[in-house]
Amino acid sequence: MLLSCALLYNKPVLNFLLLFNVNTLLLLCIITWLHSHSPVFAATTLHANETDRLALLAIKAQLTQDPLGLTSSWNDSLHFCNWSGVICGHGHQRVITLNLSYHDLVGSLSPYVGNLTFLRGISLEQNYFHGEIPPEVGRLSGLRYLNFSNNSLSGEIPANLSGCSNLIMLRLGFNKLIGKIPYQLGSLQKLERFQLHYNNLSGPIPASLGNLSSVRSLSFSVNSFEGTIPDALGQLKTLNFLGLGLNQLTGIVPPSIFNLSSITIFTLPFNQLHGNLPSNLGFALPNLRVLNIGHNQFTGALPESLSNGSNLLEFDINGSNFTGKVNIDFGGLPVLWSLVLASNPLGRGEADDLDFLNSLTKCRNLQILDLSNDQFGGVIPISFGNLSTELVQLRLGGNKLWGSIPTGIKNLVNLTELTMEQNNLTGNIPAVIGNLRMLRLLDLSENQFSGNLPSSIANISQLYKLHLQSNNFTGNIPSSFGNLTSLQDLDLSQNYLSGAIPKNVIGLSSLTISLNLAQNQLTGLLPSEVSNLKNLGHLDVSENQLSGEIPSGLGSCIPERTPGPGPVEEQLIWTNS
Ligand SMILES: *[C@@H]1O[C@H](CO)[C@@H](O)[C@H](O)[C@H]1NC(C)=O
Ligand SMILES: *[C@@H]1O[C@H](CO)[C@@H](O)[C@H](O)[C@H]1NC(C)=O
Ligand SMILES: *[C@@H]1O[C@H](CO)[C@@H](O)[C@H](O)[C@H]1NC(C)=O
Ligand SMILES: *[C@@H]1O[C@H](CO)[C@@H](O)[C@H](O)[C@H]1NC(C)=O
Ligand SMILES: *[C@@H]1O[C@H](CO)[C@@H](O)[C@H](O)[C@H]1NC(C)=O
Ligand SMILES: *[C@@H]1O[C@H](CO)[C@@H](O)[C@H](O)[C@H]1NC(C)=O
Ligand SMILES: *[C@@H]1O[C@H](CO)[C@@H](O)[C@H](O)[C@H]1NC(C)=O
Ligand SMILES: *[C@@H]1O[C@H](CO)[C@@H](O)[C@H](O)[C@H]1NC(C)=O
Ligand SMILES: *[C@@H]1O[C@H](CO)[C@@H](O)[C@H](O)[C@H]1NC(C)=O
Ligand SMILES: *[C@@H]1O[C@H](CO)[C@@H](O)[C@H](O)[C@H]1NC(C)=O
Repeated sequence: MLLSCALLYNKPVLNFLLLFNVNTLLLLCIITWLHSHSPVFAATTLHANETDRLALLAIKAQLTQDPLGLTSSWNDSLHFCNWSGVICGHGHQRVITLNLSYHDLVGSLSPYVGNLTFLRGISLEQNYFHGEIPPEVGRLSGLRYLNFSNNSLSGEIPANLSGCSNLIMLRLGFNKLIGKIPYQLGSLQKLERFQLHYNNLSGPIPASLGNLSSVRSLSFSVNSFEGTIPDALGQLKTLNFLGLGLNQLTGIVPPSIFNLSSITIFTLPFNQLHGNLPSNLGFALPNLRVLNIGHNQFTGALPESLSNGSNLLEFDINGSNFTGKVNIDFGGLPVLWSLVLASNPLGRGEADDLDFLNSLTKCRNLQILDLSNDQFGGVIPISFGNLSTELVQLRLGGNKLWGSIPTGIKNLVNLTELTMEQNNLTGNIPAVIGNLRMLRLLDLSENQFSGNLPSSIANISQLYKLHLQSNNFTGNIPSSFGNLTSLQDLDLSQNYLSGAIPKNVIGLSSLTISLNLAQNQLTGLLPSEVSNLKNLGHLDVSENQLSGEIPSGLGSCIPERTPGPGPVEEQLIWTNS
């Protein structure tokens, strides 16, 4: 017995045991023998806890950098259960958690990790692990949480991970993994969260994933997955997050997926998917909070049933081929935060195209409204001024809008971006635009606005881009524009502006991107303050009636003279690149 017992143990343990008398040793030996041979106590064999120690040391040995000294405590003077990042179980000295996350570790992951057979959780998140995921990880059948995200792991996902049959969370996002998703992973019956986003994975999404009967989140965005979205995913009755954006998926979205009532977040922008949105969408997906299907080839009308998608926060179809009138009653979407219908042939160029804005005023949390580059016609409805004061981004450019800007715009005091370029808008810019003190970008270019430039614009002190070109503005450039000390890009070209160029406007040293005053009726000298514009990328004052000499201060910049009729100084365009 003693002999066979001794054979069970390695030397350091024997030395430890020899400190006791023979009877005690025998007793200990018998107890331990019992433990190692009964399934209940198998965990506590000395042999097994030594295996864990060796495995941890092997993991440490493959780290080439540990700048924060996480593993400096991993030495013989401390029991491994007290090593940083290591947690052992209560009843036994086996590692159940290994947490090496957020320590700037560099190295590869040792295959010895597969010997930590009691492991329930491992996280290497946010380090610089490189090399492949050892297939030995698949031996960890008790593992529930595996988080290797934000590293530089390469190679393929080992099919052996299917051996981790108790996995609840598998996070491999933000790595350099290649190859296909092994179909074997479909057997992970307990898997709830499966993240592969931001890798270089390719091939099809395996139909076997339809067997992940507990899954709640599939996050596969930003890879190179191709082929169709498997119909089998429609079996995932517990799915609430499906992220497939920025891949090369083709075909239609299987109707069974548009029928998964548990879905809350569904994003698949930047693929080559086509087809229509089902007319019952708002009823079939009652929990939908985010739908982002932009930059695909979806067609047809926007389903009216979206009026009943009362949990919708974000709806984005940017860059699709949806057509027709927007017949959604947004009054039923009280929490809507972002509505992006841009770059679709929506609207019919008709007067009532923007009627839906009336109901949109009921969305009191709306912050982003992007209707740019569609076919919307008609006037901007008066109700526009009753849109949510939370609105920060409002884009209406590139449509067929006519009429003037409602003065109600003064209410939208949190706007940072207001763009209405390339429409047929007329009338004055209402002076109340000066109320929009948060504006950073104002683009009203390529319309038929007329009248004077309101000097109240000078009150928008954070403005960095002001584009009013290609309109019919008359009168002087307000000298108050010289107060716009954040302005980097000013374009007033192609109007009928007259008078002198105010010194404090052309001397605005914040102008670094462009100052374009070309094709107006400006007169007088080019003020010498122009030499303040040392960092300007582009200056154009051509096709005006300026006279006199080019101020000598311009000498430090390299003028690029464009050929053509008229005095040389009126052709001055210079590039400071
Ligand atoms: C292994 O476990 C035994 C009994 O629980 C303990 O006495 C021994 O110190 C442990 N050895 C190591 C290396 O942890
Ligand atoms: C072992 O780790 C302990 C705890 O971090 C530390 O105090 C000790 O200096 C280390 N011993 C050696 C030999 O590195
Ligand atoms: C642990 O794993 C490694 C590599 O997978 C293996 O070579 C070794 O024999 C295993 N067993 C022990 C007890 O360390
Ligand atoms: C991977 O799984 C296969 C099949 O189950 C098995 O034969 C092989 O030993 C496993 N590899 C490792 C490294 O565990
Ligand atoms: C992971 O890395 C990405 C990109 O570097 C970063 O945006 C993200 O915040 C990181 N995630 C975590 C949880 O640290
Ligand atoms: C799904 O699992 C069933 C058994 O549970 C199996 O017969 C079937 O082949 C699996 N489907 C796929 C697509 O792997
Ligand atoms: C959608 O769900 C309903 C009710 O659960 C079911 O009758 C219908 O067949 C499903 N349609 C599709 C395309 O899966
Ligand atoms: C769906 O929305 C419309 C428009 O808001 C509303 O009239 C209708 O009652 C809603 N239907 C259901 C079933 O909620
Ligand atoms: C805008 O809101 C105000 C105050 O809530 C209300 O009196 C007015 O009728 C509304 N105007 C429009 C056009 O909806
Ligand atoms: C700019 O703001 C000031 C102070 O709020 C106000 O008195 C002034 O009338 C405004 N200027 C214009 C041109 O609106």
